[in-house]
Amino acid sequence: MKHRKNIIVGNWKMNTEVKSGINLAKQILDLSDNITNVEKIICPPFVSLTSIAKVLKGSSIQLGAQNVNANENGAFTGEVSTAMLHGLVSHVVLGHSERRMFYDESSDQVSEKAISASKAGITPILCVGEDFSVRKSGKAVNFITKQLEASLQGFSNWQSLIIAYEPIWAIGTGEAATSGQAQEMAAVCRDIICSLTPDFSNSVHILYGGSVNSTNVTNFLEQPDIDGALVGGASLNAQEFSNLIRLASSK
Ligand code: PGA
Repeated sequence: MKHRKNIIVGNWKMNTEVKSGINLAKQILDLSDNITNVEKIICPPFVSLTSIAKVLKGSSIQLGAQNVNANENGAFTGEVSTAMLHGLVSHVVLGHSERRMFYDESSDQVSEKAISASKAGITPILCVGEDFSVRKSGKAVNFITKQLEASLQGFSNWQSLIIAYEPIWAIGTGEAATSGQAQEMAAVCRDIICSLTPDFSNSVHILYGGSVNSTNVTNFLEQPDIDGALVGGASLNAQEFSNLIRLASSK
């Protein structure tokens, strides 16, 4: 029996404008504010955070950002710092494979961001995941071990950390990993945490992400090392996202 409460995170990616984002947040709130025994987090684009924070104020739904710059302030045109997010969001998605792939984000940068977010009181949702060629060559365990260790270099605020295992080949493809594959890698992630900080290996939450929907989520949540889901596409539909939350609340 797991003692960790499930967490469902909606990563809206670069979708919704301010107005449609507010509407989506309101719909999600209507449908799921009263669902208990599960942590709910939505991560809209930066430009919508302030308005959506007002919508969610006093509710059971928490707000997250999708990225942050590790520097406190300065000449970094177009960037958003942890100081700017402080008090606005409780969580931040870091090291998502789309950022690693399209913006060349390295694990070193991810670890700097995680440390900086943590100092500002923002919980990192730190993503790791292998691509299909790594999976096919049988090197996924080795790859994830290296990626997670490097992404956590120098990190120490273990009470406030969420890890998301998201195989790149499963993201947005409609081809989720099997629950066995996801459990295997979640266990690898937990072993790494155990080797870094044995006291916290049982309390760190590990999520699965990659084509999660209300039909497959239960299979993942039943796994001993999976404590929730990071949801992309399905989080843009309020009804579907609330269904996911409801399923996670009863596990
Ligand atoms: P998906 O995205 O649910 O659309 O596959 C997951 C993610 O990228 O976090």
